[in-house]
Amino acid sequence: MSAKSGKLSVKLGESSGVIKTEVVCPNDTNPMGILQGGRLVQWMDIAAAVCAQTFAETICVTVSIDRVSFRHPVRVGDILTIEASLSKVARTSMQIRVRAWSAAIGKPIKYLVSEAEFVFVAIDEQGRPTPVQKKSNPRRGLRKLKKIYSKKRIGV
Ligand SMILES: CC(C)(COP(=O)(O)OP(=O)(O)OC[C@H]1O[C@@H](n2cnc3c(N)ncnc32)[C@H](O)[C@@H]1OP(=O)(O)O)[C@@H](O)C(=O)NCCC(=O)NCCS
Repeated sequence: MSAKSGKLSVKLGESSGVIKTEVVCPNDTNPMGILQGGRLVQWMDIAAAVCAQTFAETICVTVSIDRVSFRHPVRVGDILTIEASLSKVARTSMQIRVRAWSAAIGKPIKYLVSEAEFVFVAIDEQGRPTPVQKKSNPRRGLRKLKKIYSKKRIGV
């Protein structure tokens, strides 16, 4: 990681962690103005896919989504921050832990709104499972995310 010239940058392949942000728009919500769970899971899936593919350096597909929880309502205009990090690497599969946080503009507190465990499988050009190399420590990405993302939170 480099902080030279005031810019924070992470070299590709150095970190297995991904942070994705979204602003919740009316089209993402139910008639009460609350974010739909399916839309949130879609965004979480994208963050997890980028995390898996960055690590595996090949296309990865979702094979399971487990232990999805929705803990806090998210409203129109809120900013969502989705963190995805590798928690386990097997032969061709990777487990990705995803957490989503919300914050209202101008408010200093972030709420943990959702958590889930995704499993992705690396595939080759024929769509067959292909082994991933254990080339780095999956936990390293998580530690880096925690360091970068140090705003006050509640609900952990
Ligand atoms: C991913 C896919 C190629 C795997 O094919 P497969 O014949 O099940 O492969 P295998 O049985 O050899 O399993 C491959 C790995 O996936 C894991 N796996 C397969 N199904 C799984 C599941 N439901 N949950 C967790 N892990 C699973 C296996 O444990 C194995 O892991 P390992 O190699 O690290 O030990 C195939 O299931 C597929 O194409 N699924 C559709 C994926 C997709 O389109 N996703 C988008 C959403 S629809």
